[in-house]
Amino acid sequence: MKLNAMLLVLGAALSINAYAQAPIVIKFSHVVATDTPKGQAAERFKQLAEKATNGRVKVEVYPNSQLYKDKEELEALQLGAVQMLAPSLAKFGPLGVKEFEAFDLPYIFPSKTALYNVTEGEIGKGLLKKLEPKGITGLAFWDNGFKVMSANKPLHSVADFKGQKMRIQSSKVLDAQMRALGANPQVLAFSEVYQALQTGVVDGTENPPSNMYTQKMHEVQKHVTVSNHGYLGYAVIVNKKFWDGLPADIRAALDKAMKDATTFEKAIAQRDNDMALDAIKKAGKTEIYTLSVKEQAEWRKALLPVQKDMEGRIGKDLISAINKEAAK
Ligand code: LMR
Repeated sequence: MKLNAMLLVLGAALSINAYAQAPIVIKFSHVVATDTPKGQAAERFKQLAEKATNGRVKVEVYPNSQLYKDKEELEALQLGAVQMLAPSLAKFGPLGVKEFEAFDLPYIFPSKTALYNVTEGEIGKGLLKKLEPKGITGLAFWDNGFKVMSANKPLHSVADFKGQKMRIQSSKVLDAQMRALGANPQVLAFSEVYQALQTGVVDGTENPPSNMYTQKMHEVQKHVTVSNHGYLGYAVIVNKKFWDGLPADIRAALDKAMKDATTFEKAIAQRDNDMALDAIKKAGKTEIYTLSVKEQAEWRKALLPVQKDMEGRIGKDLISAINKEAAK
């Protein structure tokens, strides 16, 4: 065989081999810090996925909005520029799946058990299915926690919210929640919240303590109220075309890795939020206030009507199904 022909065959063989060995890359983008429940679980998924596939899959985790901010990340996923995200359940409205905003309804989950009855049950499965027509496959629900309110003035009574500019996620339910308290809601990307609080573009906000502490929001907020008035959690999602196109053995290994990362994530979420609240207390820059029973009742009276007001947007049946499931 002539030398040229041999070199050609060798070259082709080498490139086929190089191509065959190139790992499948999963870009996993998110907006929070690494030392949060979601941040740690993303790293855990990376370790588990790369180990379970013997390196045939490489997971690149991009925290802190390094690659994309809130709104952009969903567009990037649909375009296939990234393969995996775990956005807050409050950010699916703009995608046209308003039902996810049910998770934002004030006081809809009396406990984490009630929440898991919904996310791990038929309701949760049904909601993830609604993402498929958008070119997205839902893999799991990840937990963060119940939210606290913060501002540079004490927020004890409903009247204290009057005229306060409060940052919210892009959810119509959260918009209605803040208006029901007499505040002015302002949607801002997560990565912009610290600066907006520091410069006074907004007066206050709401988030679980783990987000507040890891974004140093407590350094620019003099008062935190432990209200647990609402919940913040996530859906782990992938680009459907990418996921369906994976070799079956790889997809099965990734599914298992996701299940284990989800168990890990749920196990650390409450612990991390408790530790963050302690750390905020210890930092000594923020007064931490827990609502009295009487104040809790006043907040509930002001906020529970939001569930009724949002029936048209989210669906009366879904809200009552969640209330029924949560009450079990
Ligand atoms: C927020 O925007 O406040 C949160 O959704 C951020 C996050 O992903 O926890």
